[in-house]
Amino acid sequence: MEPRKLAAGNWKMNGDLAALGQIDALLAGAGDAACDVLICPPATLIHPMVARVGSADLLVGGQDCHAKDAGAHTGDISARQLRDIGASHVILGHSERRADHGETDADVAAKAGAAQAAGLIAIICVGETEDQRDQGRTLEVIAEQLAGSLPQGATAAYTVLAYEPVWAIGTGRTPTVAQIAEVHALLRDKLTARLDDGAQVTLLYGGSVKPANAAEIFAIPNVDGALVGGASLKAEDFAPIISALAAA
Ligand code: PGA
Repeated sequence: MEPRKLAAGNWKMNGDLAALGQIDALLAGAGDAACDVLICPPATLIHPMVARVGSADLLVGGQDCHAKDAGAHTGDISARQLRDIGASHVILGHSERRADHGETDADVAAKAGAAQAAGLIAIICVGETEDQRDQGRTLEVIAEQLAGSLPQGATAAYTVLAYEPVWAIGTGRTPTVAQIAEVHALLRDKLTARLDDGAQVTLLYGGSVKPANAAEIFAIPNVDGALVGGASLKAEDFAPIISALAAA
């Protein structure tokens, strides 16, 4: 069985209720797409977006969760709470969370374990900084992040991996096809070595994906979709990316 294809939008800290209008255009084209389509809006918009989607074929997810189910953790949201309001996925260990909130691989693994237990699919992000790439340490860094961030008992059904080079996020710069292929081959090797169904884990590339480069990226072996930031905010940009994935 091939991994499921996924076009995932990460709205980050962007969007208000008025922005929900963007999904109407996506809904018009969803359903017949040969791939899953997911939007991870800010927490304030998850429930209204789920309500707006109704029974249509568009998935809604969170951008982070706490490792515990409940308790005295002011400002945090648990995986169970995300599931309760209709989220299907949660992005974990994004480089902005690792940088802004000091999240470690162990934190990410604990959160991913909680997500899995709550029935949420964890989109675990890994990626090297520009310095690490310049030092020739990319593969070593990615292997270490993957080893430390994948929870015990991970399965393909509840795990998605996203390779997001930190230097490519929001910069308009992307790695070469060969560089993406090299990292995705490493991820596939490590996942098949560690999980019985590692060959079925969906592997996303993320970092400055846009309509103009989507088809080229989706043609790379072991790239099963994308995690898209800026270009997911407007349906006119995200829709052609979804079409490129469906056609890949
Ligand atoms: P970008 O962000 O598409 O705006 O580069 C990707 C991400 O951070 O997930």
